Amino acid sequence: MPEIITSEIRDSVERSVLCWLATTDENGQPNVSPKEVFAVADSQNIVVANIASPRSARNIRVNQKICLSFVDVFVQKGFKIIGTATEVKRSEPEYSHWVAPLLTMAGDRYPIHSVFVVSAIAAEPIVAPSYRLYPSETTEESQIQSALRTYGVTRDKGA
Ligand SMILES: Cc1cc2nc3c(=O)[nH]c(=O)nc-3n(C[C@H](O)[C@H](O)[C@H](O)COP(=O)(O)O)c2cc1C
Repeated sequence: MPEIITSEIRDSVERSVLCWLATTDENGQPNVSPKEVFAVADSQNIVVANIASPRSARNIRVNQKICLSFVDVFVQKGFKIIGTATEVKRSEPEYSHWVAPLLTMAGDRYPIHSVFVVSAIAAEPIVAPSYRLYPSETTEESQIQSALRTYGVTRDKGA
């Protein structure tokens, strides 16, 4: 199996607060919803907690093809993962393996009903247009500064 989830993608997952999971139903109607509890499981798979995602779970049962995207909103770079997803339920023997990276993130207050295991077929970078349109004046630091202004956020001096 080729390594699709590289260390660069793993770092990006760790810096991204949310991912967006796109699925489709039996008529091809797309559905996309945010998930905060997600993690890289290994070089092939990303796991996503099903805490409150009945439509995604239903769609995955009828069509395994998915797209998962995430961006670091400050650096304004991320990835799009194209692949398939399966739902692993609590009753299944492999559940404890797949849920492990998600347990600390979810804590006790957010019970996980099942795990969506996203098996990556391909990964594509997502980059804010400024990096390509204005390469001489766009750096990760300038994008961070711009995002901080846009979101009205001040940096924690201790960070
Ligand atoms: C910031 C944020 C984080 C969320 N994180 C998760 C999550 O990790 N897992 C989950 O199942 N739902 C999560 N949700 C809730 C789902 O996105 C929401 O229930 C959505 O309507 C599910 O849609 P679906 O059934 O089409 O997947 C989150 C919502 C928000 C706004």
